[in-house]
Order: sequence, then C-alpha cells, then structure tokens
Amino acid sequence: MASGSGRCPLPCFLKAIFVFTVAMACLEGVYGGITSVFVRSEWPSVDIPIENEVFAVPKGHNAPQQVHITQGDYDGRAMIVSWVTPDEPGSSTVRFEKSAKNYGLSAEGNVTNYTFYKYKSGYIHHCLLEGLEHGTKYYYKIGNGESAREFWFTTPPRIDPDASYKFGIIGDLGQTYNSLSTLEHYMMSGASAVLFVGDLSYADRYQYNDVGVRWDTWGRFVERSTAFQPWIWSAGNHEIEYMPHMGEVIPFKSFLHRYATPYLASESSSPLWYAIRHASAHIIVLSSYSPFVKYTPQWVWLREELKRVDREKTPWLIVLMHVPIYNSNEAHFMEGESMRAVFEEWFVRSRVDVVFAGHVHAYERSYRISNIQYNVSSGNCYPIPDKSAPVYITVGDGGNQEGLAGRFMDPQPEYSAFREASYGHSTLEIMNRTHALYHWNRNDDGKKVATDAFLLHNQYWASNQRRRKLKKNHSLREIVSQIATY
Ligand SMILES: [Fe+2]
Repeated sequence: MASGSGRCPLPCFLKAIFVFTVAMACLEGVYGGITSVFVRSEWPSVDIPIENEVFAVPKGHNAPQQVHITQGDYDGRAMIVSWVTPDEPGSSTVRFEKSAKNYGLSAEGNVTNYTFYKYKSGYIHHCLLEGLEHGTKYYYKIGNGESAREFWFTTPPRIDPDASYKFGIIGDLGQTYNSLSTLEHYMMSGASAVLFVGDLSYADRYQYNDVGVRWDTWGRFVERSTAFQPWIWSAGNHEIEYMPHMGEVIPFKSFLHRYATPYLASESSSPLWYAIRHASAHIIVLSSYSPFVKYTPQWVWLREELKRVDREKTPWLIVLMHVPIYNSNEAHFMEGESMRAVFEEWFVRSRVDVVFAGHVHAYERSYRISNIQYNVSSGNCYPIPDKSAPVYITVGDGGNQEGLAGRFMDPQPEYSAFREASYGHSTLEIMNRTHALYHWNRNDDGKKVATDAFLLHNQYWASNQRRRKLKKNHSLREIVSQIATY
C-alpha cells in the first residue's frame, strides 16, 4: 500500500497542469459539456461464482476473514479493525506494533453476530486501536496459532492544512468481473484511503440465505484492499435490505453489524452519518436513506458539524452521499432532489469543495452550479453558475451486477460538464491547501490514462484575499505563483 504523503516535484506538477488546462477552463465557467461516445469492451455484469479464488476462505480452523479497517476517531489517531471468524467466537484481540513480528501492543474488541432469514452470520469482531501516531506504518495480527493472520496499515498524517494526501473514490462496487477490474485498478493508483459512496455487496439481489452468503463473499473479495487501508463507508439503497417476505424489516441490518463507523467521535447519533478529519480534509458522510428534513437528527447534526469545520486546519471540505443531487442520467433522475432542497444552500454557504455520490451506474461531473435561488413560489428554477458551489461528481460505476446506466438526458444539461457510461474509479490527490488533482479512470484504460481530470481549486484558500495572505506568509509561495500562470 503506497503512502499518499509524498509530494510531486514541481516540474512534474506543472506538467500535469498543462495536461488539464482544458478541464480547468471548464471549471472556471466556460460552459460546454461533453458526453463521451466511448464504447467499452464489456464483460458480463454477472457476479463471480462463489468457488472463484477471489472469494477464497483463508486456511486454518476459524481463521479470521473479511478483514477491513476504517478510521476510528475524529482526527486519524485511531483505527477500527473488523473481521469475521466463521466457526466460533475466538479472540477479539488485535496485537499491533510499529515493527513487524514484535507485537508489543494489544487492544481488546467485541464480537457480535446476527441472523438474516435462516442465515446465521459468523462472529463479527470490531476492535478499536487508539493512541496511534500519525503518518506511521503499523503491523497488526488477529486470530490464534496457525490460523493467525498479519496485515499492516499506515495512519494518515497529522491534521495540517498543507498535508498532501491521495484518496480513492469508489461506489456501487458489487462483486462481478467488472468490480474486480475496478478494485485492481484502484489498488494500482497509489491512493491511501477509499471514500466509498454506498452500495457495497449487492447481496440484496439474492434471496433467503444467499443474502448473508454474498455479504461474506464480498468481505473476502475486498479484503485485499480493506485490510491494508481505511475505507470510509457510506450506505446506499442496497444496504437497506427491507425484505418483509423473508421476515426481515430492520433497515441496514447486515451493513450495521458488519461495517463500523466512528460516528460518536463527531457527536452523531447514528453510524449512518458522521464526519472525520483526515490529513487536510474534513469529510462529511451523509445518509440518503435516513431522515434529513428540517429538525431530524441528521439535519441537526449536519448544521452543528458544519460549524465545527475549520478551513484553516482542514481546507478541503468533502461531502459523501449515495444519491447524487445533480444527475443527468435517465437512471435515478431527480431522486436527489429532496436532499438538494434541504442541504444545497448549506453546501454553497459553507463552500464545500466537492460532493461525491454513487447510485447511478455511470460517471458524471458537474460545473460549479447551484439552484438555491429557486423556491416553490419564485418560478426561477434552473441551476446557474455559482463560484461558491461545490463540484458534484457521480462515481456509481464500480461495476455491480445491475450493469451500466447508458441513457443520458438529451440534450446534455448546461450544468453537466462530462459524462460517460463506463466502469471505473476516481482519485483526488490533495497537493496542498490550495490545489488538488482529480482523475476519473475508466477501467478499460488501466491506471495511467485519466479519462476525465481537472485541477481543483480549494474553495476557501483559492480566494484572492487568502491567496495574497498565503504568498506573503507561507512557504508555498513559489508553487502558488507558478500555478497562477495557467
Ligand atoms: Fe444505489
């Protein structure tokens, strides 16, 4: 797992800027959206058979499987390690240390399980490792005897406005051959953490006991990445699993048992919405399928969390949700309108940098636009250019068994900058407090061809007033002056 902490040398950085000049111009308000005509070489959108080696059960009695980690606190000095033991509870202890084979530290977790129809889950362990050092590689070991397994992760750098860091963004992944392609390409990207925008396993496409079985296969499928770097989880509609014909009516039952989030650290009352600070980013996770209208717990929480955002410490304000607010695909068209009506004004007033969503099985990026002038009486209802608004990006193209959403609205709305119906993943490489490089990578191109890319200007620090302050006071003076040339 490569670290995201290394800085790109200045010549390399400037070369990248040349490549992305056109996209930059688009973001600055030169309208003219692109609907890509790329036709992918399609693999079947069917789930990989259970006996395939990508779902292999680790050897040994009661060996830990489905290992995944996520940030365990507000500021990145804790990690939650989760795993499943199939046969008996076993140990919930994580032994860990900064040097391999010398596990001097340990933490005790807890174990839970659940039923879904007649399926009985394995024993699901969650263990919080606290007091970690920032920017440090830790090795950890779970399980006992010959069944024990060892992994490692690197904690994010300390909260710092100029901390460089590379995130991956993946959504609607599933467990098909296309999902595998997305996962493998992501793992070659050099990113250090995943912002996951909902719809994990698509296990709810199955019936009866196979629902639980397909959660298990997905956990083993993604372990190659999730055991080694934090995945920041948000929930989608495929996590709801409201299946009254099977007697299952508790929303998010499987997801909440299996995937822990650090919601208490941000004073949230639900694991489904929360926030973390990670390097130079403040990341807000919202739940599209939980109440969010005025006075609901999620609404109250978000209002308070936005007050806690300090752009002097974490310049990058990123929002994750499942259902996109701006989407010009015929699939799921307007489904995000209710959340737009409630939260868009806050996003604009708070100068959110970027909103990532999934749900639509295609890729789309918006210009900076808003529709906050509209109310039900004004009659003035169309998104207009707004430099204070976020960029909205849909990456619901992980590759699940439902296939691609290939039909876009025609003509392309003015607010839509780029859209393409292909599978892929995105990366957001934060360079410093003012600039970040964004790429969307379609699967067919492998890791080195960025199909859509642009240079993202920070909404807080890229203002002329703060840029002048930065030039005067900060060591990044040279880089900022070079960037201003383009
Ligand atoms: Fe979805």
